[in-house]
Amino acid sequence: MSWINQYENRVVSAEEAVQHIHSNQRLFITGNCSVPQKVLAALVDYAPHLENVEICQALTVGPADYVKPELQGHLRVNTMFISPNVRKAVHEGRADFTPVLLSEFPLLFKRKILPIDVALIHVSPPDEHGFCSFGIEVGLTKSVAESATTIIAEVNQQMPRTLGDSFIHVSRLTYLVPTDYELPELPMGAEGESAIYQKIATYISELIPDGATMQMGIGAIPDAVLKHLFGKKDLGIHTEMFSDGVIDLVDAGVVTNSRKTLHPGKIIAGFILGTKRLYKWVDDNPIIELHPTEYVNDPFIIAQNDKMVAINSAIEVDLTGQVCADSIGHRLFSGVGGQLDFIYGSSRSKGGVPIIALPSTAKDISRIVATLKPGAGVVTTRNHVHYVVTEYGIADLYGKTIRQRAQELINIAHPQFREELTRQAKELNYT
Ligand code: COA
Repeated sequence: MSWINQYENRVVSAEEAVQHIHSNQRLFITGNCSVPQKVLAALVDYAPHLENVEICQALTVGPADYVKPELQGHLRVNTMFISPNVRKAVHEGRADFTPVLLSEFPLLFKRKILPIDVALIHVSPPDEHGFCSFGIEVGLTKSVAESATTIIAEVNQQMPRTLGDSFIHVSRLTYLVPTDYELPELPMGAEGESAIYQKIATYISELIPDGATMQMGIGAIPDAVLKHLFGKKDLGIHTEMFSDGVIDLVDAGVVTNSRKTLHPGKIIAGFILGTKRLYKWVDDNPIIELHPTEYVNDPFIIAQNDKMVAINSAIEVDLTGQVCADSIGHRLFSGVGGQLDFIYGSSRSKGGVPIIALPSTAKDISRIVATLKPGAGVVTTRNHVHYVVTEYGIADLYGKTIRQRAQELINIAHPQFREELTRQAKELNYT
């Protein structure tokens, strides 16, 4: 039977597809901007027929009706990254959080530590050989989907066909739900334009050599940094994700990927988040390869890129260099994401530059602190940390004693808090 017959025989409506989900099963949903919206909406409607169904996911963008209180007992989310749309449910104990490095997220499922019964995924229409691309979200989806017993796939006419290790054959898809709707967009914010972020970006750009390979995230700091890179030469990209800012750097001839020591000539990523402009740009674009996250985020793969620059942010940093990034005290905020993967990978890269960057204050309190808040989650340990950057400068902590680290960090704290931090450092015998 040709793949075209297979395809036609497996087409169902979203409502029919979710009737193949049963009580006590574990599901996986594709996340980021690739959430399969039609199937998920049908699942929410069908949920009263189900008991005790677990939904595993990482970050999802958009409304999350599937965690609303009325669905307790029917659907329960187990998230490996706390995105804003599920944060309240986690805090209220209606959803669970499982901490895991993003490099190991797919392995939880592939190794059957959390076996998946049904994967709900979102793919491009098949090519002439019957292969669908996972489109804008390959990293956290491909291996997990392949590990599932049943796969329900939305086949969206508007999902770009991204290249790389990014395909699944129609014969592997159990049910196909044809759709045609626009993907959600996540434009770059205006926050990156603020004076504080611009100063942070200026310091970061001083640390980036020509020929560097960059990890870029999303948020005010990466957005600000991108604008400071136009004077650089031959940058490359190996990153968990990227957004629209990369297009202008490629057009300007700044990102050429020509000096990359792994995958020269290619942008390597796990997923993309951005606007229609970006989704159009990545479609069938041979300079971009998307790969599973257990490859992209593997610190020992990352380390094969010489001059690997990793830029990540934090909630607070203590005077010994411990970096809290996933919680505000005991209040869980996000997750480890790819932070430790990239900080460690760039640390092991020849000429690598691991950077933690954050504004010196939040809500008028210092983010450089003598001790972390009780319950704060350490994401980058004091053994992994290298550069910490605020709008007041760069602290280089690697190979430094606790006494030297405390002094370096006090120097980049907001001036209003330096005296108090110095007093606390003495009290703790750090200086
Ligand atoms: N004390 C109290 N509140 C604090 C705080 C502190 N020390 N630091 C930050 N906050 C508050 C901010 O005021 C803000 O509150 P608001 O939402 O009410 O405005 C909120 O926490 C988020 O802070 P902000 O500085 O806006 O965060 P961000 O959006 O720049 O994200 C991280 C920073 C650390 C939360 C984010 O990078 C993250 O989740 N990192 C972990 C994963 C990771 O690094 N992934 C990257 C590799 S892919």
